[in-house]
Amino acid sequence: MALVTIGADFKRPLRLLVALAFVTYIFFCFPRSETVTETRPWIPPSRQRLTPTKSGDPLEYIDPLIGTINGGHVFPGPTHPYGMAKPCPDAMARGENAAGFVSDDSHIGGFSHLHDSGTGGNPSLGTFPLFAHPGCPLNDYTKCRYATNTRMINRVPDSVEARVGYFSINLANHVHAEMAASMRTALYRFTFPPDPVLAYETQEGNITAHSSPLLLVDLQDLGSTSQAWAAGCQVYPESGRMIGEGMFLPSFGRGTYTAYFCADFRGAEIRHVGTFTGDDPVTNVTYMNGVDRGFSNPSGSGGPWIQFERPPTDQIVARVGMSFKSVDQACANAEREIPDFDFEGTVARAEDAWREKLGVVELDVSGVSRELQTVFWSGLYRSLVSPQNYTGENQLWDSTEPYFDSFYCIWDSFRAQHPLLSILDPPAQTEMVRALIDIYRHVGKLPDCRMSFCKGYTQGGSNADVVLADAYIKNLTGGVDWETAYEAVLSDAEDTPKDWGVEGRGNIESWEQYGYIAADHRDTRGTGPHTRSVSRTLEYAYDDFSIAVLARALGHEDDHAKYMNRSGFWRNVWNADQTDMYFDEAGDIRRTSFRGFPQPRLMDGTFKYQNTRVCSPGQEPHKCYFDTALSTYEGSPWLYSFYAPQDMSGLIETFGGDEAFLERLDYYHSSEIAYMGNEQSYLTVFQFHYAGRPGRSSYWVNEYIPSQFNASLNGIPGNDDCAMGAFAAMAMMGFFPVAGQSVYLLTAPFFPEVRLRSRVGGWDRPAVIRSVREGDAGVVEDEGSLRDAIYIQSARLDGKPYTKNWISHDFFEEGGLLELTLGTDEGSWGTGQGDLPPSFPAFG
Ligand SMILES: *[C@@H]1O[C@H](CO)[C@@H](O)[C@H](O)[C@H]1NC(C)=O
Ligand SMILES: *[C@@H]1O[C@H](CO)[C@@H](O)[C@H](O)[C@H]1NC(C)=O
Ligand SMILES: *[C@@H]1O[C@H](CO)[C@@H](O)[C@H](O)[C@H]1NC(C)=O
Ligand SMILES: *[C@@H]1O[C@H](CO)[C@@H](O)[C@H](O)[C@H]1NC(C)=O
Ligand SMILES: *[C@@H]1O[C@H](CO)[C@@H](O)[C@H](O)[C@H]1NC(C)=O
Ligand SMILES: *[C@@H]1O[C@H](CO)[C@@H](O)[C@H](O)[C@H]1NC(C)=O
Repeated sequence: MALVTIGADFKRPLRLLVALAFVTYIFFCFPRSETVTETRPWIPPSRQRLTPTKSGDPLEYIDPLIGTINGGHVFPGPTHPYGMAKPCPDAMARGENAAGFVSDDSHIGGFSHLHDSGTGGNPSLGTFPLFAHPGCPLNDYTKCRYATNTRMINRVPDSVEARVGYFSINLANHVHAEMAASMRTALYRFTFPPDPVLAYETQEGNITAHSSPLLLVDLQDLGSTSQAWAAGCQVYPESGRMIGEGMFLPSFGRGTYTAYFCADFRGAEIRHVGTFTGDDPVTNVTYMNGVDRGFSNPSGSGGPWIQFERPPTDQIVARVGMSFKSVDQACANAEREIPDFDFEGTVARAEDAWREKLGVVELDVSGVSRELQTVFWSGLYRSLVSPQNYTGENQLWDSTEPYFDSFYCIWDSFRAQHPLLSILDPPAQTEMVRALIDIYRHVGKLPDCRMSFCKGYTQGGSNADVVLADAYIKNLTGGVDWETAYEAVLSDAEDTPKDWGVEGRGNIESWEQYGYIAADHRDTRGTGPHTRSVSRTLEYAYDDFSIAVLARALGHEDDHAKYMNRSGFWRNVWNADQTDMYFDEAGDIRRTSFRGFPQPRLMDGTFKYQNTRVCSPGQEPHKCYFDTALSTYEGSPWLYSFYAPQDMSGLIETFGGDEAFLERLDYYHSSEIAYMGNEQSYLTVFQFHYAGRPGRSSYWVNEYIPSQFNASLNGIPGNDDCAMGAFAAMAMMGFFPVAGQSVYLLTAPFFPEVRLRSRVGGWDRPAVIRSVREGDAGVVEDEGSLRDAIYIQSARLDGKPYTKNWISHDFFEEGGLLELTLGTDEGSWGTGQGDLPPSFPAFG
């Protein structure tokens, strides 16, 4: 999702002109590729590269700060793959701090231990922030500031250091804060200056403090959602241990969740302990709960604190164990995971975990810039940050199945992230699928969005159906209960939940009766937002296709026919007469000759009008977010006109054939209609394949990377959703999945060689994609030599000529060698009818 995109710059007039000029050139001056005969001789790439430059340590190319401004909402702190503990400083930057830290100059309110990454919506998690004062004015603990709004402090500009497993920042109060994480425990190392007296600027002006560090934990969260009556804490004067719990609201859903912490400190003698509410600390109360002593002070802040004597080594280490089950489990997690408070060791263990995960990919990076390598590895890294592995921490039910949370949201992640995990980390993807099925078992429905043990808001269809079908056809069978999976997807299709704002589908009666979600249909079986009738129709159709796939696989042929038929319902919202109109920069009405768009339709069969471009970068971009009243979700009818992945040949016919389709798709990408900051746009970059022009897909991949996916702080065009990196990484490796199908659309890779450990063959038979530039004898030496050769001229799979412009999952499953020759002209590879990816009839 892309709920908030502050300051996104949508206007790219110059690039646009260039792109338009090029499109015009292609259409009018470039011969259609089918008519080009292959005259160039095949130059076999040498089996052994002469100057291979194997990628170095991937960790050196991961910049966790990418996407920490301009709506990327990326979590940049230390974490394990799918880790629950995610410590980072919390920036008080409203609208931007969904993941805690933001690379701007906003104040830091504390350091908290749980976050989500890349989401829209409200700030997520950020429970129990820890704050460190180096001392208090007049050496008096009552003179320190405790509440969020008074304690928050400036950062020292440019002091952040972020790398895999490690984050540090300097604050204006002279505290140098470093953090590391294990799976469920955050570890902080605070370094204080040796000076006995410190001067610095605070919210309330310049102060002088006497060195005697005071650390506090606030029972709040990042979004100030603490349910004060349910909060409680205790601090033990002897050991300094702090424990606590709180109840909070999810960031994009309904309900509440409970979290628990257990903090221990090392490095200095304890001077005082106590508790605080607002800015009032006391030493005679060491136990508080919301009932006895409300936290209902205006600041909402309250919790335990400890003042230490000056630390002999100038350092205090704070270990904060987390749990969603109990305080005892939070303490046990901390004691088991980081028994010795070993900061360096904790960093090293996180690094090792990431090296192991990312070690399934090897690259030849000859001629590839450092920036592009950074885009690639950082993107892969972000794809494994979430969903979070809460196995053993499920506060809702006991189960022997895995539990994953932060499916935030499947609407975003089913398109690229989950297919990527199916290749890179099939065991993890299998556990996630099992977790989804277990959620169905205990909650009654699969989620479309889920965070913090709560139901999240459904954005479009019931897209977990696609995730399950995708997993099945990709052989992720280990321990998956497919009978229950099938029951779950049927439930999505057939049983209206009471509240389809948070699960399942709405207007199923309309679906059955009219074959589309009628814009004026009112659900009599459940309630939910009666909006997004067009995008829901298109998504329900693809979800039904996924059900048909599972039905056939599991031997339910009748269901297969039924759901295949419904998968054709995308046609029913297609208004062939709808024209395209927009306002130009002078405010004048402009019309194009494009005709035929999906449009809202009433029960009586007539169409209503929705502007074809509304909710695109060039026209009212923010009008289709979650509170939309319109018929398309987070995108325009233009965008949704391309969404029928189950029946691209039928869709292309509807557009009026290949030429018309290609012209529309090129126009869409070059006219401020496409917005790459949202996940539905991914597939449109590659759909040229279906009309026999895989080279146009390559062209647009290279237009978007690195211009919109790059290694700068704002190098992500929208909320990351742990999906933007998956898109970039796969596009750079030279393939993109059609989620729910065993289909990967092939484009020119950015690397001379990509090697992926295969599931069956392992490293003995990896999936290798090797590219050479036409004319080169297999040696790629000069800088950027592949980068201007962006078109596949010819291919061989395991030594045999390969003309299909797509490849199936078997390649990644079993391994193989795909050899590509790249050139600077579009060429004719993959353009024949028999080379196109499968469409509806092939699935029938
Ligand atoms: C605090 O001190 C600094 C450095 O001496 C000075 O630049 C700043 O203006 C002072 N701030 C306030 C609020 O007095
Ligand atoms: C704690 O001390 C304060 C004064 O410092 C007093 O007002 C309060 O009643 C005391 N609370 C308890 C529980 O003793
Ligand atoms: C998830 O956590 C459980 C419990 O710690 C562990 O057994 C499992 O291997 C983890 N799964 C992944 C994919 O990391
Ligand atoms: C679906 O079934 C209806 C009614 O039997 C039929 O008219 C229609 O052609 C079918 N559509 C597809 C795509 O099979
Ligand atoms: C990097 O990507 C961002 C986000 O898409 C874009 O706004 C910016 O212009 C890009 N920067 C460069 C140097 O291409
Ligand atoms: C799944 O496994 C079966 C049997 O091992 C194999 O025939 C099939 O090709 C595999 N499918 C994919 C998509 O890898």
